[in-house]
Amino acid sequence: MAHPLLSRETVLDLVPFGDSSQAGRYALRLSLPKWEAWSPGQFVMIRPVEPAADVLLPRPFSICLVTRRDLVLFFQVAGRATAGMARLTPGSRVVIWGPLGSPLAVEPHVPTLLLAGGMGIVPFIGYVHQHPTPWELSMEFGHRLPLSCYPFDSVNEKILVDPHLEKTPSHRDAFLAFVDARIGEYAASGLILACGPAPFLRAVQTSALRHRARTQLCLETRMACGVGACLGCVVRAVVPQDPDIARPLRPDYPAPSALHVQTCTCGPSFWADSILF
Ligand SMILES: Cc1cc2nc3c(=O)[nH]c(=O)nc-3n(C[C@H](O)[C@H](O)[C@H](O)COP(=O)(O)OP(=O)(O)OC[C@H]3O[C@@H](n4cnc5c(N)ncnc54)[C@H](O)[C@@H]3O)c2cc1C
Ligand code: FES
Repeated sequence: MAHPLLSRETVLDLVPFGDSSQAGRYALRLSLPKWEAWSPGQFVMIRPVEPAADVLLPRPFSICLVTRRDLVLFFQVAGRATAGMARLTPGSRVVIWGPLGSPLAVEPHVPTLLLAGGMGIVPFIGYVHQHPTPWELSMEFGHRLPLSCYPFDSVNEKILVDPHLEKTPSHRDAFLAFVDARIGEYAASGLILACGPAPFLRAVQTSALRHRARTQLCLETRMACGVGACLGCVVRAVVPQDPDIARPLRPDYPAPSALHVQTCTCGPSFWADSILF
């Protein structure tokens, strides 16, 4: 995996998504960092060049896409740092540390089901653009806001995406039941990748364990340093119980004896049966 670089990048533009009543979601285009490589599922830590007194630490964001000209992130305003990011203007400078973390699994000849909840769609943009056999991919996307609030078209132009609007708790329950059935369909010979809020990922984890489906979960645990030093992002590791589930080994993966692992360095993607969160 490429070594992460600390660099100062220039804001090229900031594009709001959704109409004004749903404001708070933006695509941020930055000048291209001099990375050797990157892989979908990895993330960056970002902060302004002059950190404000109330936002000293950088914040993690999934890498959406890297083109020959730019690095694209997509974010929603959640608090102080992201409110500051929404005020960036073309020409502003930011500090970027990346690419960080582990990539999502890519198995070109295996039917792969992508499960995204809300902003969990972001890492899948790069995933579908880089995948060598996108016809093996399909996606279920659960969302509470209109599709115009998400970078939906960037995924939908490459693969078939099935959107599920979740306006009420019963819509959400119906979506989770549908996801459970889809996991069952892929359990025997497919791969499943899921990104989204923790309650969604816990529901996917429960279904995946029940169906014994090979599933990776991409966590969005809160992070302070992003490089394994502060232990602010640890999750509990468990020894996988099912010897029939093939998990390609990664050199950075937690040793089976580890009790806790950092999401930033051992994740953010983990096999569903290897963590408790
Ligand atoms: C690996 C990773 C990838 C991420 N990718 C994206 C992305 O592509 N786009 C995006 O919009 N966000 C993403 N996030 C979440 C993003 O980092 C947080 O929304 C951001 O740090 C909030 O900073 P803030 O100062 O604006 O809010 P804060 O003031 O720090 O927090 C505001 C509110 O948001 C909650 N919050 C903060 N961080 C998180 C988190 N990680 N998960 C859930 N709730 C949180 C807090 O509990 C609080 O209620 C990612 C997080 C991780 C760990
Ligand atoms: S964020 Fe500091 S150890 Fe992971």
